[in-house]
Amino acid sequence: MPVVVVVGAQWGDEGKGAMVDSLAREADIVVRFQGGANAGHTVIYKGKPVALHLIPSGITHEHTVCVIGNGVVVDPKALLEEIDALSSLGISITPERLRISDRAHLTLPYHRMLDTAREMAGARLRLGTTRRGVGPTYVDKVDRVGVRVGDLRHPKRLEEKLRTNWEQKQAFFNALPPDDRPDFNEILDELLQYAQKLSPYICDTVMWLNEQADAGKRILLEGAQGTGLDVDFGTYPFVTSSNTTAGGACTGSGLPPTKITSVLGIAKAYTTRVGEGPFPTELQGEEQIKLREKGREYGATTGRPRRCGWFDAVLVRYSAIVNGCTAIALTKLDVLSGYPEVKICVAYRWRGEILTTFPAEVCVLEEVEPVYETLPGWDENLTQCKSWEQLPANAQRFVMRLQELTGVPIATVSVGPERSCVISVPDAPPIW
Ligand code: IMP
Repeated sequence: MPVVVVVGAQWGDEGKGAMVDSLAREADIVVRFQGGANAGHTVIYKGKPVALHLIPSGITHEHTVCVIGNGVVVDPKALLEEIDALSSLGISITPERLRISDRAHLTLPYHRMLDTAREMAGARLRLGTTRRGVGPTYVDKVDRVGVRVGDLRHPKRLEEKLRTNWEQKQAFFNALPPDDRPDFNEILDELLQYAQKLSPYICDTVMWLNEQADAGKRILLEGAQGTGLDVDFGTYPFVTSSNTTAGGACTGSGLPPTKITSVLGIAKAYTTRVGEGPFPTELQGEEQIKLREKGREYGATTGRPRRCGWFDAVLVRYSAIVNGCTAIALTKLDVLSGYPEVKICVAYRWRGEILTTFPAEVCVLEEVEPVYETLPGWDENLTQCKSWEQLPANAQRFVMRLQELTGVPIATVSVGPERSCVISVPDAPPIW
């Protein structure tokens, strides 16, 4: 009964999509358990790129059933656009292949407006969100005024719940110029249309997933974002509004901790972050631009340039602990080719003190200086390497040092975007 959780070990964009896509070939079911249309990755289907935001990457494999779990916030418009885009490529989306939890919350059109308004209200509030309405949707969930996917099947109840939610936003609407104020009936009509299209996919995914796990099916739980963006464990308040860590896989799917068999953390061979917030190993000026261009580090959802820096072993060690990682998949090692020396942050220096654990306070993280260990680099282009033995000795040494510092076996190393570019590390534990 393998139930594998895949989580990001940094600040998102670690290359989880490509890893999940590769693991999904061996999975029966792939589940998204948190986040919303703020996530984004591109998978290649029959030579064409497909951008996915809400639907799990397993959708391109015909035998895989994809689940949008209860912990996800679903923007129905974005979801239907994604279903249409996939269908136009010939990918069959049927209720047998796509199941949406009746307990997931709906992102309403004005959640995006609220997200944007907050970002524009002033520098003190700005977090650099994706402005996809994800935070405001979770606020309503916790405030117990959210509208859930299951409500789409009960028009009367939908109207009542939308009204409650709507009324609670009046102060915000009234502050808008009259022409910009959303119209209740328009939104209700739009939702009723979405309801017709989405109803066949809506079900009780919690019971279904548990039955499938008990029947021995292989289940992959696909995290979005990364540990540094977790609302509890990340760099609060510069975080997303959900639990991106392995615990979130349980609360966001209904599969209990006792059914999880392994946790794979994904970490890039260096670090990136989008949006605001502390980033101890961030490079500056030309050095940052060089790494961004080498790694083509631009956001999949917003196109924003990502901030780039060296590998932060303090962060990844902390991620490995918080997630209980049984293995790490290291991605984009090929990007570091050509550096005479490569650096790893092994601790932080703060006001003369050496910190070896990830501090909770953003004000501390903003002041820390990274303590680097420098290793010899390598010049060889790694993209043609097919096995561990073919990697240059210095690249192998770098990987082994990361393994030592993070305390978790590195199971695979990626040297390019294709599936064939994932190299197994000798003696690593199996992922399934
Ligand atoms: P939100 O999730 O849109 O509310 O944004 C909160 C923070 O999470 C911002 O710093 C975003 O840039 C970041 N974020 C959200 N989704 C992703 C992602 O998929 N990759 C990387 N960062 C993300």
